[in-house]
Amino acid sequence: MDTAHPSFPILVALFVLLLGVTSSQPYEEFLQCLEFHDSNITSIVYTRANSSFSSLLESSIRNPRFDTSATPKPLLIFTPRQISHIESAIRCSRAHRIQIRVRSGGHDYEGLSYSTISPSLTFLVLDLRNLRAIQVDVPSKTAWAQAGATLGELYYAIAAESRTLAFPAGMWPTVGLGGHISGGGYGSLLRKHGIAADNVVDAQVVDVEGRILDRASMGEDLFWAIRGGGGNTFGIVVAWKLSLVSVPPTVTLFTASRTAQHKGIELFHRWQHVVDKLPDDLIVMASLSRDNGTILASSNATTIQASFNSLYLGGIEGLIPMMDAKFPDLGLRRENCVEMSWAKSILYFAGFPLNSPLESLLDRTISATGSAKFKGKSDYVKEPIPISGFEGIWEKLKEVGVQTGGLILASYGGKMSEIPESSIPFPHRAGNIYQVEEVAFWVEDGVEAADGYLNWLRGLYEYMTPYVSKNPREAYANYRDLDIGRNGGGGEGDYRRARSWGSSYYKNNFDRLVRVKTAVDPANFFRNEQSIPPLSSWR
Ligand code: FDA
Repeated sequence: MDTAHPSFPILVALFVLLLGVTSSQPYEEFLQCLEFHDSNITSIVYTRANSSFSSLLESSIRNPRFDTSATPKPLLIFTPRQISHIESAIRCSRAHRIQIRVRSGGHDYEGLSYSTISPSLTFLVLDLRNLRAIQVDVPSKTAWAQAGATLGELYYAIAAESRTLAFPAGMWPTVGLGGHISGGGYGSLLRKHGIAADNVVDAQVVDVEGRILDRASMGEDLFWAIRGGGGNTFGIVVAWKLSLVSVPPTVTLFTASRTAQHKGIELFHRWQHVVDKLPDDLIVMASLSRDNGTILASSNATTIQASFNSLYLGGIEGLIPMMDAKFPDLGLRRENCVEMSWAKSILYFAGFPLNSPLESLLDRTISATGSAKFKGKSDYVKEPIPISGFEGIWEKLKEVGVQTGGLILASYGGKMSEIPESSIPFPHRAGNIYQVEEVAFWVEDGVEAADGYLNWLRGLYEYMTPYVSKNPREAYANYRDLDIGRNGGGGEGDYRRARSWGSSYYKNNFDRLVRVKTAVDPANFFRNEQSIPPLSSWR
């Protein structure tokens, strides 16, 4: 040990004294344990005493709702640079009973990758920001991508090698590959190629014993579970091997918006009857939103807007006749359309100006909502909602007190209907016309303000009940919603309770997920408020 500096135990004691941490024992021993495994490891450990602790924690908090002084904070943040660091973190966390929350991109809707709803929980954040290497192999149309990479970094790396390769995942560049693929991951290519987890062909995972596993050594059950069965549950995914898909060199996009109530509602109604039956080269997504101008600066005060966003795998010449034949009510004109590469379409959907450089995909600091907090919920629609139903939604959006909120609708059909429900844990396949995200954004601070918006959103969700899937009421795991259920105090698994929210996310795949969890992590080391519990925890 370097004698020019205070010795490590003294630093720890000082830290404990400064922060008044009552349970000094696990913390101190944990750090000593890490140091035992690797003497240089403390340089990637950030304690609360470290001047960059807060900025590091906040840099990947993507929902400002969980960036408050009241939000429970980790004991420390650990930023591994190599796999052996993850192994050490798991071994030491287990030995000293410190829970791990693994964070890749930090987009968890309920903040569970860096926080908890249990104020007394002792946990650390294992932040994978330094593990984000990507290797694209054009001849085999595959890529190995580390879990700490963002979607933008992945798309940029693919585009650097080929304009005609892509990966069918989400549409927001800063979303992390670790959490996104662990929960499914859909984007503009879902009707043609399915979701991200459908297109994973291998993975590297560190399990609860600290072993590094690949597909062959983990076995098909665990490999099945990690492709959509939820993050922070079966192990820590270090990297995914992705099967890339072919796209034409030029794709076409359009956005069409309508503000008049009757026209917007009619279009939505009509949209539902065609979207899942369109050729799978075409996806037309939709949104119905209200904005009072405080968050989306460009929009008019208290405007309710119906918007249709589309991606067509081909040029304008092919799109116009297709839209004229399949969805003439929209009245699409060529001046509404724009052609670009598939990689650039991600920037278009994210709202970047048309002339933005592709390098914008690499910007890990962009924020989808600025300082606005948000909550999302999700549903699946199997029968078209009647016009009267949409009229009610329109009225709900007008309710006093709502700032920005609404519905974001992603159309299904195509490849999504061909993949069996049990192929991977993500079960939402044939029979769905579209997926719904109900969402509310707000800028005010404080619990009272938040409760108002949360109540409005819950009211909208309640209103949707007759129009959406039933028994179970399905939900998308990546739009995590603790309203639909959570595990017992401190994140302890509870099979009976989990079955309710678990059926919503995974339908009949839930029990297989529990069996896998029981086999690979029977003591429930990897857990959070909504992770799959092992059977042992309720016996
Ligand atoms: P984060 O790091 O918060 O992880 C989410 C969960 O996975 C946590 O439980 C975490 O512990 C766990 N986890 C993270 N890394 C892990 C790893 N390496 N191994 C094991 N577990 C791990 N979804 C979608 O399908 N399509 C879309 O277009 C979008 N767009 C979008 C935009 C914005 C602004 C937000 C906030 C969210 C989305 N999403 C989305 C939802 C997104 O897919 C979902 O929140 C993902 O879980 C985010 O993954 P991150 O790694 O970014 O989050």
